[in-house]
Amino acid sequence: MDKTAKILTFTTIDPAIDRATITAFRNDAHRCSYGETCPFEEASYLKWIERRVDRFPAGFVLVKEDGQPIGQLELQIVSIDDVEVGFINLIYLVPAYRGNEYGNLLTDYAETFFKSNGVESYQLRVSPFNARAIAFYEKSGFQKIKEVTQPHVLWCYMKTIGR
Ligand SMILES: CC(C)(COP(=O)(O)OP(=O)(O)OC[C@H]1O[C@@H](n2cnc3c(N)ncnc32)[C@H](O)[C@@H]1OP(=O)(O)O)[C@@H](O)C(=O)NCCC(=O)NCCS
Repeated sequence: MDKTAKILTFTTIDPAIDRATITAFRNDAHRCSYGETCPFEEASYLKWIERRVDRFPAGFVLVKEDGQPIGQLELQIVSIDDVEVGFINLIYLVPAYRGNEYGNLLTDYAETFFKSNGVESYQLRVSPFNARAIAFYEKSGFQKIKEVTQPHVLWCYMKTIGR
């Protein structure tokens, strides 16, 4: 796949229309993070998405190529230690699109979103089990800042973007 020949669009999630797609994508991301042993709570996820899409319509998007969903982003602004920062709740590509630098197109979109919201850095949390995502974050300029347990162990990464 030649990413230079491709144009991605980022379309606000419609929880009613996109329900099956976002559930499948979120389930797969959950598997990448925690394996098969930890069930994903679909009903509570869909309720949460409805609220967050209303708050951050440009942050909760399906990534499409030629009209077909190939990925998903969940981006929001949160307060951590009394500082407003960007937060990636989900970055997801379907398997066929991994390993082709499409991930950079997703972080480019995320950074534009975060800059337009006036934050200087953004964070995310990743399972130590998810070696591929960790390799992606580390080569993309993220730094590990701490480890939390909620209830799984998660590594917290941060990237500074300036204004
Ligand atoms: C996270 C994600 C967006 C990154 O996009 P991507 O296209 O896969 O990223 P890249 O291929 O550019 O980078 C991944 C790196 O990990 C490496 N890698 C792949 N499998 C790996 C593994 N099992 N262990 C360690 N490194 C691995 C790749 O070789 C690549 O490094 P390289 O470019 O130096 O060769 C994508 O993998 C994805 O959607 N994963 C599923 C959902 C997910 O886990 N999201 C994150 C939740 S926190």
